[in-house]
Amino acid sequence: MGHETSVRSVRGMNDLLPDQVDCWQEVEAALREVTGRYGYREIRTPVLEHTELFCRSIGAQTDIVEKEMYTFSDNNGDSLTLRPEATASCVRAGNEHGLLYNQTQRLWYAGPMFRHERPQKGRYRQFHQFGIEALGWPGPDIEAEIITLGERLWRHLGISGLTLEINSLGSVAARARYRDALCDYLQQHEGMLDSDSQRRLARNPLRILDSKDARTQEILQGAPDLGEFLDTAEQRQFSRLQDLLDAAQINYQVNTRLVRGLDYYTGFVFEWVTDQLGAQSAVCAGGRYDGLTEQLGGRSTPAAGFACGLERLIELVGTQQLMSPRRSPDLFLVLVGDQAEIRGIGYGEELRNAGFDVLTNCGQGNLKKQLRRADASGAQVAVIVGAADVESATCDVKPLRGQGSQRQVQADELINDVRKILDSTLN
Ligand code: HAM
Repeated sequence: MGHETSVRSVRGMNDLLPDQVDCWQEVEAALREVTGRYGYREIRTPVLEHTELFCRSIGAQTDIVEKEMYTFSDNNGDSLTLRPEATASCVRAGNEHGLLYNQTQRLWYAGPMFRHERPQKGRYRQFHQFGIEALGWPGPDIEAEIITLGERLWRHLGISGLTLEINSLGSVAARARYRDALCDYLQQHEGMLDSDSQRRLARNPLRILDSKDARTQEILQGAPDLGEFLDTAEQRQFSRLQDLLDAAQINYQVNTRLVRGLDYYTGFVFEWVTDQLGAQSAVCAGGRYDGLTEQLGGRSTPAAGFACGLERLIELVGTQQLMSPRRSPDLFLVLVGDQAEIRGIGYGEELRNAGFDVLTNCGQGNLKKQLRRADASGAQVAVIVGAADVESATCDVKPLRGQGSQRQVQADELINDVRKILDSTLN
């Protein structure tokens, strides 16, 4: 009857249509180019992991694990989760395949991630991250390398106006001392905090530093400063990193309020932020996570990395600015009649073997109609096969963009003739 409602995509999960994919592929080519410059190699891990992986890495009390994961039991009753990020997967894979013991790894990845957040511009439930993970170096040289890699990528893509914010969270012990001091202070103002922050006070007080609430921000003005809780070795490491960034002529701002939404960070953390994307300001974020391999059952391995939201990056690039003109076919094969179609499929394959991009007329139609399609396709040349041509093993070659007049050629001359026309177009 045709009255069924149409099936729609899942909320927060987007189709990327061919025009958009052209742009994505250019960005992906840039990722490949820039990571290659620094010796990073691609890793691909599954989209599904055991739920435990994320509970043990991101942290059971984080927003991601508490309320944003797509978790379900499979037919065996195993609890599986669509990955909300890929750092944990990289470390798991490194442990599992013995890539970490007495070795170093420079890895990169790109792919879909899943978080059940409230969708809005720049925030989706299926989104894509490009990330790099450097495993096995204690830093801060590797952090400086990661940052320069990021900056090179922005330059390569023509993105400007990003601000790099950096901070040091210190060791687990330093953070625990700070957490206590922060709690003492905030408890004195508890009634004035926004309700989210009140909830976080008992469980994850550092995240209160992230609050967007104006009154909470005002109270935070008087809060103790994380930087003062670092021990001297941590302070030295952080200032050495700043020396390296200065030497690489990288601009940054120290933001002692910068904390991250994942629990595995130790020491250095950073974010590139923009004011061009509305509420979703973080384009790329990461830091050091020295405890994670051990937390996941491997040997202690120092590590650092970042991940960048590709939707946000592409929004910044601006589709128009990046996209090279759409690729047009070299030839359009006009095939008039049943016999011509049979002959034409062979011609098409031979022309493609010779390296041409060929669009074949499918769906029949008279000569005039097919020539209109040929013209609309953007092809340089139409190759026309009609009923009479089948007998004589000939075809007509018709330049479409003012490269001479139509002529008849023998089928075995076709490739040479077409090449001549296309060469003359190039010159
Ligand atoms: P994250 O801060 O959770 O870190 O995510 C990194 C980036 O992914 C964000 O800055 C943002 O650009 C993008 N992103 C996150 N959620 C969404 C969303 N719902 N929609 C669109 N984009 C989003 C991590 O995931 C860590 N694994 C980063 C890391 C790698 N740390 C060390 N190595």
